[in-house]
Amino acid sequence: MGAQVRAVSFIEERARALMERYAVREIRIPTLERIELYMRSTGATSDIVEKQMYTVERRGEGADEGRIVLRPEGTPGVVRAYIEAGLDRSDPEQRFFYCGPMLRYERPQKGRYREFYQFGVEVFGRADAACDAELLIMIDDLRRELGLGLKMELNSLGCADCRPAFRQAVLDYGRAHFSELCEDCHARLERNPLRLLDCKIDARIAEGAPNALDYLCEACRKHFDTVRDLLGRSRVEFSVNPRIVRGLDYYMRTTFEVSSTALGSQNAVLAGGRYDGLIEELGGAPVPGIGFAIGLDRMALALLESSRKFDAAPQVAMIALGEAATARALELAHRMREEPNKLAVEMFSPERGLKALLRRADRIGARYAVIIGDNELARNVAQVRELAHSRQSEVKLDELPATLAAGVGPS
Ligand code: HAM
Repeated sequence: MGAQVRAVSFIEERARALMERYAVREIRIPTLERIELYMRSTGATSDIVEKQMYTVERRGEGADEGRIVLRPEGTPGVVRAYIEAGLDRSDPEQRFFYCGPMLRYERPQKGRYREFYQFGVEVFGRADAACDAELLIMIDDLRRELGLGLKMELNSLGCADCRPAFRQAVLDYGRAHFSELCEDCHARLERNPLRLLDCKIDARIAEGAPNALDYLCEACRKHFDTVRDLLGRSRVEFSVNPRIVRGLDYYMRTTFEVSSTALGSQNAVLAGGRYDGLIEELGGAPVPGIGFAIGLDRMALALLESSRKFDAAPQVAMIALGEAATARALELAHRMREEPNKLAVEMFSPERGLKALLRRADRIGARYAVIIGDNELARNVAQVRELAHSRQSEVKLDELPATLAAGVGPS
């Protein structure tokens, strides 16, 4: 449990550092939003809006105030804030990142939670293929920094001009194979036929289905070709998967998913795409946009599956016996934590017996136990026990911080 939390923090820190290098600014968005926001963006026929939103009960206000929900994703809230600040008209080219919990009512399982963390990036005001490529190169940087062999898959969903013909072709195909579709696909075929392509229950039916790339208009084809070419020039490894349709309505053109082979069925650790019509749909100027979100919990699971260790054990367990020794130990612990020693030190309770404290130091995986009793204090030394090897030696109190730091080596 602790390792999972630390892995999440580690990814967040790396992602934040990457944002500085890509000049992306942080935005904080609220957890509560009106339901209409998601109906008009994520999509009224998406699983998120249809089945997964938590509604908040409101006090003392009429039903006509509109329902409030807990945010299931970040993109619509960022777009709303951007429009409300008037940036879509005054200074449309903006790049934001956000990090925080999202809430979806789903059946929990490994890698799928009702409250989970996303680290998201949204870029507004750029319609060019280089923008898509830059975002994907950023993701590739993160993938390499985390040292994870993640798979990046791309697709293009076309635009308002070419997507209707593709949608119709998938609808016709679904109708022709209706008896072979799963229950979910039956229910959503007429409203959202593209979901048939990423059906998680029965992937076979998608195999013979129409391919999005065959329906792209000239402009969309050129855009997608340029994205792929630019990625090739930056040596980003990816593959094209025409089954990536995404479950949210706002996507068009480039869509993508990054997944980990180390995870089970919930293996998408990051996903996103272009959403050029969304800002206008939500009442803003016709400004294009593109973005993605990392599922931090899932990315952390992938990291823990790799051999990486997220060791939180203190390097030093400070065991002081008696009041005078405790005062001196507190002082020494402070020096150990300071530059240049930078050791991780945990002070143990002076109210328990030595045996119990040593057992605890061992159990939590400390490297050294430092023991200072009245006897040691009088002689200005400490007993230093290297726990893994049961070796014990005496070290002068003044030399303790530097000696231990040298023993631990650079972290
Ligand atoms: P999404 O595909 O719904 O996209 O979620 C993005 C990522 O969040 C997923 O790939 C997954 O790693 C994680 N995730 C989703 N649901 C759960 C869950 N129940 N438990 C754990 N992790 C989960 C979006 O949310 C879009 N807003 C992404 C985006 C940003 N597109 C453009 N800009």
